[in-house]
Amino acid sequence: MSQATLKIGFIGAGAIHFGRPEVPWDHASRLEKIGGMEVIGIVDPDTRRSDEVLKEKLASPDYGHMYTHCRLLTDYRELLGMKPEVVFIGSPPGYRGSPKDGANLELEFARAGIHVFVEKPLSVLPPEEFSPYACSVTEACRANNIVVSVGYKFRYHAGVLKMKEMIAHHGGKVMAFNARYYFAYTEGINKYWFNTAISGGPIIEQATHFCDIARYIVGEIDMTSLHTLMVKDSDKGGVGKLNHILNNAEDDIPSDKRIPRVTISHWRFEDGGLGTLMHSLTLPGSRYQVTFEVQLDGLQLSLIDPYGSTSILRVRSLEGGNPNQDQDFVFENDDMYLRELDTFIKAVRQRKQSLIKSSYEDAKKTYDLTWAILGQGETRI
Ligand SMILES: NC(=O)c1ccc[n+]([C@@H]2O[C@H](COP(=O)([O-])OP(=O)(O)OC[C@H]3O[C@@H](n4cnc5c(N)ncnc54)[C@H](O)[C@@H]3O)[C@@H](O)[C@H]2O)c1
Repeated sequence: MSQATLKIGFIGAGAIHFGRPEVPWDHASRLEKIGGMEVIGIVDPDTRRSDEVLKEKLASPDYGHMYTHCRLLTDYRELLGMKPEVVFIGSPPGYRGSPKDGANLELEFARAGIHVFVEKPLSVLPPEEFSPYACSVTEACRANNIVVSVGYKFRYHAGVLKMKEMIAHHGGKVMAFNARYYFAYTEGINKYWFNTAISGGPIIEQATHFCDIARYIVGEIDMTSLHTLMVKDSDKGGVGKLNHILNNAEDDIPSDKRIPRVTISHWRFEDGGLGTLMHSLTLPGSRYQVTFEVQLDGLQLSLIDPYGSTSILRVRSLEGGNPNQDQDFVFENDDMYLRELDTFIKAVRQRKQSLIKSSYEDAKKTYDLTWAILGQGETRI
C-alpha cells in the first residue's frame, strides 16, 4: 500500500537544512532520499538565501517535484497557518526555545498538532527561565500525540550503536569517558557562533553533542562534581588571542564577552565513573578534530572522527586476539543524519514517540548539563 504524502515545512534556510559545501549536514537531501514528502514552505527572514535554495531545488530533475508548491515565507506563523504535518526547526537557538511571543515556535507547532524535529541546542536561556517552557512543550506533545525529536545525531551513528552494544556486553560499568572536540576556525566560520546571545557559545552550541553522548553512553552526571576551566580572549598574557577570525566576526564584541578559546571540564557520573570534555577553538582550516573514548575494566573503545565520511571505532580488548593490539571497525559513508531522519519519519507515520532516541525532555537534561559546565569552576563568563 502506498503511503500518504507528508506535507512538511522548514524554518531556517541555512546549512543544517540545505547544506554548505564544507559541512556534512543537509536535512533536505536526506528527506529527499527518504521520499513521500512535499515541502510546502521555507521560512527565513533572509529571502535571498531561501530564494537561492528553492531555485536550486526546483531545478533538480530528481527532487524538484517535491518543491513545486513550496512558498517562501519570512515568519513561522505563516507556515503554522498553512498546517503542515511536520515542521523542521533549524533557525539559530537565539530565535526559538523561549516563552517570548515570536520565539515560542516549538510550543505553537506542538499545540497545533504538528510533528516537530528541532535542532540542538534547545534554547539560549538560562535553565531556570527555560524549564517551564520545556515542560509546556513536552506536555503539548503528549496531549496531542505528536512526535518530537531533537537533532542529537550522534545517537544514530553506527559507531555509537556498536559502542553501546559492546559496553552492555561487557557488563556496562564505564570507568572513564573522554571527549575531545577541536574546532577549526580559520575558514568557513558562521558569524553567529561568536555571538553568545544568538548561539549560547561553544559549549551550549557545539560541545553539547558530546555532553549528550556522555549521558547517552554512560548515564547521568552528578552536577555537584563538575569543575571547568577556560581560556578566554581577555586572559592575562594574551594566551587566548585568536588572529585568524574571518569576517570581523568578533570586532563588535568586547574582549571579556568573547567566546572561550579552550574549555576543559570534568565530572563524576552518578554510577561512579569519571568524565572529561575538552573543547577548543584553535585549529586551522575547517576540518574539526573529534574523538570520544570510553574505558571499562579491560576494554577501551575510541570513536575517531565521527563527523567524517570514514570513522573508526578502535577497540582494545581482553576478549579474543591480542590484548596489546587494536581492532578497528571502519564505518565508510555511514549516514547518521539519514538514520536519524528516517527514524523520525517512521515515528511520525506510526505516531510512535518511543522510536526516537532524543526526545525534548531528554535533550533538556543535556541542555542543563551544558549550563552546569558553564556555571562551575573558574569559568569567568
Ligand atoms: N545537528 C547538527 O549536526 C547540526 C549541524 C549544524 C547546525 N545545527 C543547528 O542548526 C541550527 C542552525 O544552524 P545553521 O548551521 O543552519 O546556521 P545558518 O547560519 O547556516 O542558518 C541559519 C538560518 O536561519 C535563518 N534565521 C534566522 N532567524 C530566523 C527566524 N527567526 N526564522 C527563520 N529563520 C531564521 C538565518 O537567516 C539563516 O539562513 C543551530 O541550532 C545549530 O546548532 C545542528
